[in-house]
Formats: sequence, C-alpha cells, structure tokens
Amino acid sequence: MQLVSDLSALRAQLAEWRAAGQRIALAPTMGNLHAGHLQLVKSAQKHADRVVVSIFVNPTQFGVNEDLDRYPRTLEADSQALEAIGADLIFHPDVDTMYPLGPGAVEVQVPGLDSILCGAHRPGHFTGVATVVTVLFNQVQPDVAVFGQKDYQQLAVIRRLARALHLPIEIIGEPTVREDDGLAMSSRNQYLTAGERALAPALYAQLCATAERLRAGERDFTALENEARQTLDARGFKTEYMTIASPDLTAPDTAMHHFALLVAARLGSARLIDNIEVSV
Ligand code: PAJ
Repeated sequence: MQLVSDLSALRAQLAEWRAAGQRIALAPTMGNLHAGHLQLVKSAQKHADRVVVSIFVNPTQFGVNEDLDRYPRTLEADSQALEAIGADLIFHPDVDTMYPLGPGAVEVQVPGLDSILCGAHRPGHFTGVATVVTVLFNQVQPDVAVFGQKDYQQLAVIRRLARALHLPIEIIGEPTVREDDGLAMSSRNQYLTAGERALAPALYAQLCATAERLRAGERDFTALENEARQTLDARGFKTEYMTIASPDLTAPDTAMHHFALLVAARLGSARLIDNIEVSV
C-alpha cells in the first residue's frame, strides 16, 4: 500500500492502473478510521480493482465554533488498518494541495438540500462537503465512489452533485455500521464521557421505536417527531432535529410506504447523528 500526499504522484499511479485496464474506486474519509470506514473500503474492493482512500480533515466543512482543531488525526493507525484490509493507496493531501487558490476560491453549492436538517444547524457545512468531494472526484477521477448511509443527507448531496454535473462516477451507499449496543460508529463518539457513552444508544433506540409506530400505522408525523424529541431531551440529549421524511428528504405524506427517520442531537460536547430507513 502506498501513502501519497502529492497530486502528481497520485496521478502517475492512477495513470498506470488505468493503462492496465483497472477500475478505480475512491472512499473519501477524514481519517480516524473505524469499522464503518473499513466497510466502505471492503465494498469498494468488490466494485473495483484498485481502492484509493483519501484522508483529509477538510477545513471548509467545519463551522467556526466546531471541532476542526480537536478532530482526531491518527494517520499511523489508519495506515495499519488500511494495509491490513488490502487498500491500495492512501491519498493524504495538505490544504494547499486540495485548495491551490485557497479554501473558498471556488464553492460547490447544492441549493435546498444544503440548508435543511444538518444544513440548518451547520451553515456552510454541505457547501464544504460538496466542494471537497468535487475536488477529490477531479483529482482521482474514480469509476466508483463509496459513502456511508450514516451521513444520509451527505449521500443525498453527493448523489445530486454527481447527477447534476454529469460525473461519470457510480455512487454507492453502504449501510451504517453500529456498535453492539446499536450506537452508530463515529469518530465523534470518543468525545463522549463514560456516562454519555452509556446513554448514547438511546438515539438509535428512539429511531427504532418511532419506526415501530409508523409500522403500526400511526401517521401524525409531527406528533411522532415531538414525542421522540421530548423523550430524548428528557434523557439528557439536546435534540437539534428529529424528522420523519421521504427517502429523498422531501416532506413525507401519509400514503407513502418508505420513510427516512433522521436525528441529530448533542450529548455533552459531542454532536451525534443517526438515521434509519423504514418500509411499511
Ligand atoms: P468521515 O466522517 O470520515 O466519513 C467518511 C465516510 O465514512 C463517509 O462516507 C461516512 O458516511 C462513512 N461512515 C462514517 N461512519 C460510518 C458508519 N458507522 N457506518 C458506515 N459508514 C460510515 O463524511 C466525511 O468523512 C466527510 O464529510 C467527507 C465525505 C470525507 C468529505 O470531507
């Protein structure tokens, strides 16, 4: 496995693989890898001959008061984990390599989708994500790119981006990998104290409980959302949103058979998100 931080070295290796007729997959990450990230790499290996994993803590997707500075950077452990599962190349660029004219010189926006749910609570976040993913897509020009359903809205943003810009890249969404107690794996879980960590699985449990109510036929979405939010807040979460939506993140209607349930909540100093899809 190679560790490359230079764009011309990346391109030389990619050109060699392409000349040999090999398909290339990209799994973009910010590092501090856990089993959820590794699942993306395993999926990528099924869809391509070579898997590139990018590790870049992207400053443009963090708000001014967010955790850019304390975001865990663990390149050595990440390299070992990726080597062990047979990833081909880690692309680990610095800010200048990613943004040669400086962050913000060009921005990619996905209007509408970027300002609801997490976008309403993290202004500019999805512009940062859409911009860095567009840069990565142009640098790597993969045949396929793999993202986690854990970041449901992010996946929707990227799917729209790829379609609208006619990018010849197949976008794959991988199911959320969870701890044994149901908590979605996340680099941000390590911000939790022991007490908060014990409470954290209640987020997923609440999504499952609301899903069960939908399956039982309840369709007063606002009442279900409010009740779920109150339950979480009573347990110590500060819920930012708890939303029943259609799978494309538009408003649900009572005749639908497929829903997406999405939640974001603060617990101590961590901001946790989770979601599930429900078919009724
Ligand atoms: P990061 O949070 O490092 O996540 C990288 C990828 O791993 C994303 O596609 C995310 O959805 C996926 N992922 C995270 N936790 C997961 C889990 N428990 N199960 C399955 N997949 C999981 O998301 C980002 O980085 C950035 O926004 C990025 C796309 C790299 C752009 O900077």
